[in-house]
Formats: sequence, C-alpha cells, structure tokens
Amino acid sequence: MTFIKVKNLLKQYRQGTKTINAVDDIDLNLNKGEFLAIIGSSGSGKSTLLQLIGGLDRPTKGIIEIDGAEITKISDAKLTTLRRDKIGFIFQNFNLIPTLTAAQNVEAVIAKRTKRDRARVKEVLKKVGLEERANHLPSLLSGGEQQRVAIARALINEPAIILADEPTGNLDSKTGESIIRILHDLNKQNKKTVILVTHSDYVKKYADQTIEIKDGKIT
Ligand SMILES: Nc1ncnc2c1ncn2[C@@H]1O[C@H](COP(=O)(O)OP(=O)(O)OP(=O)(O)O)[C@@H](O)[C@H]1O
Ligand SMILES: [Mg+2]
Repeated sequence: MTFIKVKNLLKQYRQGTKTINAVDDIDLNLNKGEFLAIIGSSGSGKSTLLQLIGGLDRPTKGIIEIDGAEITKISDAKLTTLRRDKIGFIFQNFNLIPTLTAAQNVEAVIAKRTKRDRARVKEVLKKVGLEERANHLPSLLSGGEQQRVAIARALINEPAIILADEPTGNLDSKTGESIIRILHDLNKQNKKTVILVTHSDYVKKYADQTIEIKDGKIT
C-alpha cells in the first residue's frame, strides 16, 4: 500500500528576475516500511523535495499524500500536528541545542508528556548506543555521537517516517556509514519508513528504492 505519494510536484523559486524549478514535476510512491535514497549533486533539488514531503514547505503545484492525508490541502495547524506525530527529521548539522545535555535535547521535543518520559529518553539513547553519554553536552561529543543524539531526538515521538537530509555530510566516511547503518536498522527492525538524501552512492545498497535527481527532475 502506498504510504507516501508524490504526484506532479513542482516548487518554483524566484531568483531575481527569473523563476527556477527547484522541484520539477516529480512523481514517487513509497510503501510503508520502505527505504528510499535520493541522490543528486549540489543544487539538484534534494533538500527542497524532502522539505516538501516533510511539510516544512508548501509546493507551487502538485500532490503529496502521507498515510492517506493530502498534506498540500490541510491547514498549517493540521500540518504541524501531522509533522509532530508522524515525522522525525535529521539534518546535516545535527541542530542540537548546545546548552542542553544529550538527554535534555531528546526530552525537549517530547510532544505528549507521560510518567515514562525519562525511561523513554533512556530507551532511545540506548537504541543509538549512547546511554553512557546521556549527560554530556553536545560540545563534549564527537560528530557521530551528536548525530546519534539527533536520531534519538527524531525517534522520541515514535514517528512512522524518518526524513534525513545529508545526515553524513559533516562526518568522515566510516562514521557516516555507521549512521546510515543505524537508519537501515531502524528501517529493518523498527519498520520505519526512511527517506535519505545524500551525495553518497554507496547508500544505494541499503535502499529499497533509489532515485537520482538533476535540475529538479528524476533522471
Ligand atoms: N529559498 C530559496 N529561494 C530561492 N532559491 C532556492 C531556495 N532554496 C533553494 N533554492 C534553489 O533551488 C535549487 C535546489 O536547491 P536544493 O537546496 O533543494 O538543492 P540540494 O540538492 O539540496 O543541494 P545540496 O546538495 O547543495 O544541499 C537550487 O538552485 C537553489 O539555489
Ligand atoms: Mg540540500
């Protein structure tokens, strides 16, 4: 069953006097539990496409359905709720709050508070192999460890979907592959639907589906 559906997606930006199609008539279909890799060179439109799918931005034209909901038609408030409940985001620069510990960074985004919060924070940090680093500030963690905190943070609200935009971009290749393996593991063991944007060709071997984009189009 199609879980994420994209049809005739267009995103235009004005750059001075001209209009560019950052995403140009893209279609894709992803089933629940699939791993999609989006590959393309700098400026090809990867981040724009991921931001549209994640509801962080609105398309110029076209359709995006997430789990049967047409997110291009819903209000900003509903979109915020859908994003919070269904999607975990991971970015290249980790986006951790520097004054909070690893555990506090994860805890800060909990959507619905329960008595089990502390135990759940521990669980997700354990999932990414960081239970021993829970009380460290980001500045005391390596890049790979910081990205694992960001993955734990993305997992805390138990999203069905994980969207990662070049999560290995700031990491050496070995650390980068360990991050991809965590995402692969979340896909295989925890049935997360994963969309990964990357420059790196080798991620293809972890993906069920790979698309390459150039000038906003699937090649
Ligand atoms: N807010 C914006 N306003 C105007 N143009 C934009 C904006 N965001 C992106 N663009 C343009 O859209 C195109 C696609 O950008 P995008 O960031 O999606 O590429 P990318 O594939 O993620 O590149 P990279 O690998 O460098 O991250 C580029 O030509 C870029 O200059
Ligand atoms: Mg990008």
